[in-house]
Amino acid sequence: MTETLRLAILASGRGSNAQAIVKAYEEGRLGNIEPVFIFSDKNAPVIAWAREQRLDHGVLLAKDFQNRLAHEEALIAELQKRKIDLIVLAGYMRILSPDFVKQFPKRILNIHPSILPAYPGIHSIERAYRDKVSYSGVTVHLVDDGVDSGPILAQVRVALTPEMSLDAFEAAIHAVEHRLYPETLVAYANELMARDPSGH
Ligand code: GRF
Repeated sequence: MTETLRLAILASGRGSNAQAIVKAYEEGRLGNIEPVFIFSDKNAPVIAWAREQRLDHGVLLAKDFQNRLAHEEALIAELQKRKIDLIVLAGYMRILSPDFVKQFPKRILNIHPSILPAYPGIHSIERAYRDKVSYSGVTVHLVDDGVDSGPILAQVRVALTPEMSLDAFEAAIHAVEHRLYPETLVAYANELMARDPSGH
């Protein structure tokens, strides 16, 4: 018997990756992973969507806490309460502290819209486009203490042709994200289960 891995999705924006992951689950493409909690640091569109879908969700605004540590501690409590095994960052716009990362060793994944280490940080698609690169793409990686660093789990290139608009380039990159994130999540969960069949 395979145990369920309980997944939390942390997002700060529109949540198209969160939606792609939940859709993969609903279509039976997420193996033994079950998305059980959507969390945001903002009253973001992703939360409105989670509410509509009747998915368990939570918002903790940073301004309601004395400092970053207190905000993270409250988030950790929410995650522990729900016995979360795996976390994906899907456009989560806060940098996690080393202590947070230590709480979930090798259990936090991030997606980034570039071929890291190229174009870390924000506006990655736009910067690559303005530089007229011949390709950029998508990276899924494990989260460590740095910004967009950590061991790479998967990368897919997206070509940028001279006639392509920025909108078209963005759409092509997001389309790859929505396929790659669920796929990589499943492959990584299988690796974890092979190491420790209880998965926890
Ligand atoms: C994605 O492009 C992701 O790679 C980056 O933030 C964006 C989030 O988009 N980290 P969405 O909120 O999932 O639509």
